[in-house]
Amino acid sequence: MNTKVMRERKSVRTYRKQDIPEQTLNQVRDYLKQDTGLFDVPITFSILNAQEDHVGSPVILGADTYVAGKYKKQKNAELSFGYAFEKFVLYATSLGLGTVWLAATIDRKAFEKAMCLEEDEVMPAVTPLGYAAEKRSIRENMMRKGLKSDSRRSFEDLFFYEDFQNPLKAADAGRWQLPLEAVRIAPSATNKQPWRAVVEKDSVHFYEKKTKGYAKEATGDVQKVDLGIALCHFEIGAEESGLKGRWIQADPGIPSAEDTEYIATYMLEA
Ligand SMILES: Cc1cc2nc3c(=O)[nH]c(=O)nc-3n(C[C@H](O)[C@H](O)[C@H](O)COP(=O)(O)O)c2cc1C
Repeated sequence: MNTKVMRERKSVRTYRKQDIPEQTLNQVRDYLKQDTGLFDVPITFSILNAQEDHVGSPVILGADTYVAGKYKKQKNAELSFGYAFEKFVLYATSLGLGTVWLAATIDRKAFEKAMCLEEDEVMPAVTPLGYAAEKRSIRENMMRKGLKSDSRRSFEDLFFYEDFQNPLKAADAGRWQLPLEAVRIAPSATNKQPWRAVVEKDSVHFYEKKTKGYAKEATGDVQKVDLGIALCHFEIGAEESGLKGRWIQADPGIPSAEDTEYIATYMLEA
């Protein structure tokens, strides 16, 4: 996987009536069998059929195939879900398939039934899978405008040096520039981009800046899913930059605003 695929990915809500070839579907099936989660939280995926499984979304046109994922409630589950599901989204993009993360605008009950969701399980999001239509629907164009989907916050808004008082410019980010740029362009729920990071010489600390009213009991904290996406993008950018590191959770105690929670640290290997 690489950052080129990330730059190519855009949400697709309008699909062509074209079947996914069996060979491509087999690649998807094989990919989804792997354990791609983070912090030892397994994520399980299923491929669903819109007609047979009676699933769908009011914002999607023309897609017959969906992929959904679920986890058992536990610490770090949302992070692992975001990380694993985004890896899949990027893999699908590399196969020429369109996707869009859907957490809110789905027939949730129908998906949860099709996923045989147990009491202690959560299915945070699903994606349709198929080929993008040449033209987006009017509704999709309006959504993109409303969410400002083609723009992102600036580097200095999101990333800091040593503490939250010092905004970091891309040109000053050195070895962290590409991995952080990869985070900056990631998708997030309603494009809120809740990730923040404080860099040091050999480590980068990630934080979740919470939007009020987002965390829900039944579906977990969707912005933690966004943070899992950020960790996925950062890691791929770091690998591409030739860096070798690993994820740990050890709060460095950097003073942060009340709405900003420490999530995880990328540490370079000595
Ligand atoms: C966790 C998550 C949940 C999302 N939920 C929805 C959703 O319910 N409906 C929808 O149309 N888009 C949803 N999106 C897509 C975002 O709106 C989209 O990624 C963002 O606007 C940026 O656009 P882009 O993906 O084209 O870069 C979701 C994205 C993420 C990461």
